[in-house]
Amino acid sequence: MEQIQNKTYVWSFLGRISHWLLVVSFFSCFVTSFYENMLTLHISLGIVVFGMLLMKIVWGLIGPKYARWSDFRFALKDLKFYFIQKIKDRYRQIQPGHNPASSWFAFLVTWFGIVCCISGFVLYGIQEGNGLLSFLNDKYISYANGLDNIHIFLAYLLLIMIATHITGVLIEQFYHKTNMVMAMISGYKRAKGEDITTTFRMKLLGSLYILLTLVVAYYTYLVPENIFTKSKFQPVDYKALDADFHFECSDCHNLFPPYLLPSASWKKMFKDQHEHYGEDLELDESLVKKIENFMVTRSAEFSTQESAYEINKELKNSSEYTITKTNYWKIIHKDIKKDIFENNIVERKSNCVACHKDFEKGIIYDINITYPQNVTKN
Ligand code: HEC
Ligand code: HEC
Repeated sequence: MEQIQNKTYVWSFLGRISHWLLVVSFFSCFVTSFYENMLTLHISLGIVVFGMLLMKIVWGLIGPKYARWSDFRFALKDLKFYFIQKIKDRYRQIQPGHNPASSWFAFLVTWFGIVCCISGFVLYGIQEGNGLLSFLNDKYISYANGLDNIHIFLAYLLLIMIATHITGVLIEQFYHKTNMVMAMISGYKRAKGEDITTTFRMKLLGSLYILLTLVVAYYTYLVPENIFTKSKFQPVDYKALDADFHFECSDCHNLFPPYLLPSASWKKMFKDQHEHYGEDLELDESLVKKIENFMVTRSAEFSTQESAYEINKELKNSSEYTITKTNYWKIIHKDIKKDIFENNIVERKSNCVACHKDFEKGIIYDINITYPQNVTKN
C-alpha cells in the first residue's frame, strides 16, 4: 500500500521542549532516587518534572490546537475503534492530534505524575524536615513510611506507563511506518490536518514559564539552605550545651547525639557504665545523674528526626543501646562493604563521623554523607 505522505505541523516548539525536558528530568529523578546523597538533585529534578506537568495542564487550556484538552479523545468507543483499526490496517491513515490511546496516556501520566511530585514534596517536609513543608515534620513523622510507599509506587507506575508509551511509539515507527518518533522532534506528523499556529502570547508565556521552572530548579540545587531545601534541624553545639557530656563521651569515640537512642536505653547504658564495651567509664554518681539527665531530655522520644523516630520505634520496648546492632541501622548500611568499615579512615562501624561529617553536631542529613569508598584497606 502507498505510504501517506501528508504532513501536518502538530507539536509546537515549546511543546516539544517541554516534552523532552519531562523525559530527561523524570529519568534523572528516577536514577537519583537511589542515592541518598543526591537528594537535593532529586528534588531539583522533581521541580522540573512538576513544572512541565503543570505546563501540560495549562498548555492544554491556552496552547495550540492539538495540545488542548478539548482536542483529546476520551470516548471509550473511539479507543476500541482505534485498536481494532490498528490491528486490521497496518498502513491506516493516522490523526494529527492525540489518538484515543495517547489521550488517555497523557491524561493519566499527567495526573499520576503530579500526585507523585506532590507526595515527594510532602515527604521531603515530613520525613526529612526539609523545605517549605518542614513544619509538618513534628506532627506527621509517623506517616512518612506510608507516604514514602505511595511516592515509590507512583514512580514505578509512571515508569511502566512510560515504557508502554515508548513501545507504542516504536510500533508506530517500525510496524505502521508512520515515522512517529520524528513527530516529537520535528513537530510534523504524517497525517492529514490543519497545521497549528502558535500566537505571540503563547510563545511569550510558554518560554518565560519554562525558563522560570529551570531557574527555580537550578536555584534549588545550587544555593545551599534555600527556602526549598532548608532543614529545620540545625547543627547543635553539644560542647556548649553540656561540657561534661561532651568531655566524657567523646574521648574514645565520636560523640553520639542523644536523640539516637530512647531514654530507657541511655539509662541502661549508664547502669552498665562499668562494663561499657570492655571499658569502665568510671563516672561518679553525680556526674552520671547530670549527663544522664542531659541525654534523656533530648532522647529519641523527643526528636522528630527520621533516625530518632525509627530507632525509638524499634527499641522502645527494650533497653538495647548498641545503635549499630539495630535493624534500622543495619538495613540502611547494608550496601556498604565490610572493608569500607574496616579501612584506615573509618576503622569501625561506630565511627559515624567518618561518613556523616556533622554527626557530632547532630546532623545526619542524606546530603551530608561522604562515602569513603575509594579508600583501601590498611
Ligand atoms: C573509655 C572509652 C569510652 C568512653 C569514655 C565512652 N565510650 Fe562509648 N564505647 C566505647 C567502646 C570501646 C565502644 C564500642 C565501640 C565499637 O563497637 O566500635 C563504645 C560504644 C558506644 C556506643 C555504641 C556504638 C554502636 O556501635 O552502636 C554508644 C552509643 C556509646 N558508646 C555511647 C557512649 C556515651 C554516651 C558515653 C559517655 C557517657 C561513652 N560512650 C563513653 C568506649 C567508650
Ligand atoms: C562507611 C561510612 C558510614 C559509616 C561509618 C556510618 N554511616 Fe550512616 N550512612 C552511610 C551511607 C552511605 C548512608 C546512606 C545509605 C543509603 O544509601 O541509604 C548512611 C545513612 C545513614 C542514616 C540515614 C540518613 C537518612 O537521612 O536517611 C543514618 C540515620 C545513619 N547513616 C546513621 C549512622 C550512624 C548512627 C552511624 C554510626 C553508628 C553511621 N551511620 C555510620 C555511611 C556510613
